[in-house]
Amino acid sequence: MTAEDIRPAADPDDISSNPSGNATLREVAEARLSRRSVIRGGTVVAAAGFIGAVAGTGTAMAAPGNPGKPGKPGKGKKLLGFQAVPAGTDDKIVVPPGYTAQVLIPWGTPLSSRGPKWRKDASNSAADQAKQIGMHHDGMAFFPLGAGPLGSRQGLLVLNHEYVDQALLFPDGDAQMTKAKVDKALAAHGVSVVKIVQDKGRWKQVDSRYNRRITGTTPMTFSGPVGPRHPALKAENAPMGTLNNCSNGQTPWGTYLACEENWNSYFGTTDSSWKPTPQQARYGVSANSSYRWHEADPRFDVAVNPNELNRFGWVVEIDPFDPKSTPVKRTALGRIKHEGATVTESRGRIVVYTGDDQDGEYIYKFVGSAPWRLLRALRKSPLDHGTLYVAKFNDDGTGRWLPLKHGTGPLTKAGGWADQADVLLRTREAADAVGATKLDRPEWVAVHPRTKDVYLTLTNGSGWNNKVNPRKPNPYGHIVRWRERGGDNTALTFEWDIFLLAGDPAYDPQVKLSPEDVFGSPDGLGFDRDGRLWIQTDVSNSTQNRPDRGHDNIGNNQMLAADPATGEVRRFLVGPRGCEVTGFAMTPDQRTMFVNIQHPGEDTAFWGAAPTPQNPNAVSSWPDHDPAGRPRSATVVIRKKDGGVIGT
Ligand code: FEO
Ligand code: CA
Ligand code: CA
Repeated sequence: MTAEDIRPAADPDDISSNPSGNATLREVAEARLSRRSVIRGGTVVAAAGFIGAVAGTGTAMAAPGNPGKPGKPGKGKKLLGFQAVPAGTDDKIVVPPGYTAQVLIPWGTPLSSRGPKWRKDASNSAADQAKQIGMHHDGMAFFPLGAGPLGSRQGLLVLNHEYVDQALLFPDGDAQMTKAKVDKALAAHGVSVVKIVQDKGRWKQVDSRYNRRITGTTPMTFSGPVGPRHPALKAENAPMGTLNNCSNGQTPWGTYLACEENWNSYFGTTDSSWKPTPQQARYGVSANSSYRWHEADPRFDVAVNPNELNRFGWVVEIDPFDPKSTPVKRTALGRIKHEGATVTESRGRIVVYTGDDQDGEYIYKFVGSAPWRLLRALRKSPLDHGTLYVAKFNDDGTGRWLPLKHGTGPLTKAGGWADQADVLLRTREAADAVGATKLDRPEWVAVHPRTKDVYLTLTNGSGWNNKVNPRKPNPYGHIVRWRERGGDNTALTFEWDIFLLAGDPAYDPQVKLSPEDVFGSPDGLGFDRDGRLWIQTDVSNSTQNRPDRGHDNIGNNQMLAADPATGEVRRFLVGPRGCEVTGFAMTPDQRTMFVNIQHPGEDTAFWGAAPTPQNPNAVSSWPDHDPAGRPRSATVVIRKKDGGVIGT
């Protein structure tokens, strides 16, 4: 999401709060292209890109000797086998011929067949909401229940509920803020765990002891250098809640990672004498909160309860198989506006990539200190033992991971850093100090299943630091990729390239996408086991569909598939009006794909009227299309009619 999607007047993601002088990737890319590139037939071609990519053009070609083999779609078959769907502006889901899309667990669905029923006038109470699926589905993972084919027919679906649209959440909107409304909003946030089963190609939620909601008031604990008794975490109330859970991760030991993104936006104050500390300002904390919970709940008043802020900005580990377990905020992974936490494994150790989604922020990775199985055998969490790094992209196509480790480089006592907990509580400032490279809003990360190359969506950026990255401004975003040295994701150096520039060649001739497959603002990203790269888009609601912003050919937000070896991109799904497409999971057999449709019907400039309590369906009525109802975020289940592998 962008906060612009909540309140059209301001998008904090688009406004940098990074005052450091660190070089942007735009500066790096420009310098690199000018040094290393040759012009052929008017096309800028990287002379020696690590994957032989046509840097900055949107096309990527496999180079001789590229160790990265393309995916295995079957002998002689192309990786992408489906028929592309056209861009569209209809209020529905569109998938390729031969595919079906089924709506599952929309906002308000009771967790149990005996639970409180969804009320389409939004009159469910906070207590009801705490027993129902939350609002605004986002990152998601599927945990098979059972081995072999059984594990593709039943499992736990775990998904984030990133934020709430208060115009749709309450029958009378949010002109007046009350404690009851804050409580309902908190109950609509967090994570859902639901058991789902498949019967003859249809999936349904079933009653289960695993079904669970984690909300903005669920008890939480802390682990790692910022432990539960750290003074910065001390407040009147016990630690509770997770908020703005955007993307996610999944560990090899079977837990789920929910990430806290725009947590600052929940805090504010009416105390006109309050001023943010430099640390708070670096995270964008201000007196103004678009949610205005602070008006009714002192927990969110920064003048009254400043340490509550320190409890957010973390990666939260949840064990979906233990419904009584307390979620753990794993502080060794840093405190930023975490988009996601993509976990991969190298030489037995875990590596977790996590982007900080704001204009001019950084990409981080955490590398485990020892093989995760060994740490688990010693009853230690692999997420508590390791080093956090931040990326520096050099202008020669190489890069380096810089440690955020107390006592290393500038992060010393003499430099004003008390200890490792201090470094982590102020992760952004630590990354500034070591000289990380600014990026255009780092979103999701995906690791190729065989080459282990790492792909990162940079959704869009202002071009705020004067140089092109690789274009200025960057309204459409791009995808950067890198290969860690020796294909070892724990390595501290890498070679990078630009996989593609998003956008529309009708407006930007640098874009090499075919007119049939144009898209903007790549955000969600994931590989399937065959190596198809799935791309989900989040063009902001102020820009979607608008010709005056170069988005009329792009249509509603969507999902596409790319072949990383050839650079071919093909549109796979178009979402309903005003939504973003986000969240990606598949069954092990790849014959079911789960995708989330978030915030259908949100205030979208192109459609004129914004949803109001009187007319919640002003932009969209998806998925119920009930004139007396309201749009609802939901999971969509994609299957092939012939039961085949998705994407073939
Ligand atoms: Fe929650 Fe950066 O998207
Ligand atoms: Ca996102
Ligand atoms: Ca986004």
